[in-house]
Amino acid sequence: MLDVLRKYWNPVARSEEITPTPTRHMMLGEQLVLWRTSDSGTVSVMKDLCIHRGAALSGGRVEGENIVCPYHGWRYGADGACTHIPSLPEGSPIPAKARTTTYPVREAYGLIWVAQDDDPAPFPDFLDAYESDPAFRMCYVSHYDWATSAGRVLENAMDFSHFNFVHKGYTELADGPVIKPYEVKRSDRGFTYAYDDGHLVRDYTVEFPFIVHDRKSVTNPEGGKTWSDDGESKAGDCTLLTFIAAPVDEATTRIHVLVSRNHGLNRPDEDFTSGFDVVMNQDKVIVESQRPEQIPMDLKEELHLRMPDAHAVLYRRMLREIDLPEGYMP
Ligand code: FES
Ligand SMILES: [Fe+2]
Repeated sequence: MLDVLRKYWNPVARSEEITPTPTRHMMLGEQLVLWRTSDSGTVSVMKDLCIHRGAALSGGRVEGENIVCPYHGWRYGADGACTHIPSLPEGSPIPAKARTTTYPVREAYGLIWVAQDDDPAPFPDFLDAYESDPAFRMCYVSHYDWATSAGRVLENAMDFSHFNFVHKGYTELADGPVIKPYEVKRSDRGFTYAYDDGHLVRDYTVEFPFIVHDRKSVTNPEGGKTWSDDGESKAGDCTLLTFIAAPVDEATTRIHVLVSRNHGLNRPDEDFTSGFDVVMNQDKVIVESQRPEQIPMDLKEELHLRMPDAHAVLYRRMLREIDLPEGYMP
């Protein structure tokens, strides 16, 4: 069911977690093994399955540039080709079919990304501009595991009309709950929209299908109601919140959160990251209660309001444009 999503890049682990000790990770309902070669430090992502008798390679070990299956000791290189079968006499040819399935992998923003398809979609590289800008500092906040689909998580991260209800006292719209007109613009990788509450302008960038960047720029330091901008905020301060919803399976999502900021660079990162646990848990309770867990396929099944939900209407339209199986939405 999740096959049409396989071409998109998802973060499957943090870079620092992946060492020469193989580890097992699920993405799109598929068990993967991640490991780093001990000589060159190359990261490899494979289906966690030995072609010989189906043992999990994550139970094996890394030797140099190879991973060794725990069952009969077959060795595979980072490209998936079998390099040694201990039960064959020295010098015997290795059958050409003796290989595991490997997937395209990238290390970026402190995360290991995988696309479970040989012909992946373009890499979601919006954060490159922030990572390379010396005025900004990027840091990893945490990951959160929610019992729902990545589509529901993404719609929550895009939505600002719930702030004054779910996040009272944390991240409210300064001018109240009535949503003024705003424009949603489609781009080649997703879409953008902006909302000004008189204190902050929030510029949203969606990298389709499962990444939202919420850039908060302070325009009027007085009267803000956002916990991360309390106290010392001044006009021009920008805080970019990045939410990446990784579809572990149809009803399990791991959310990675990063923050980039151009202010308070001499203050500890914790000043800007510590509030997320509370806010994310406020959302989790609501989003895990949504039924069905997957976004309804038919736009008519839930009631959309033209202004507050304009981003969600476009998002659902874009999901329908990818070749999803009958009746299924992420
Ligand atoms: S199952 Fe892996 S070597 Fe036999
Ligand atoms: Fe929220």
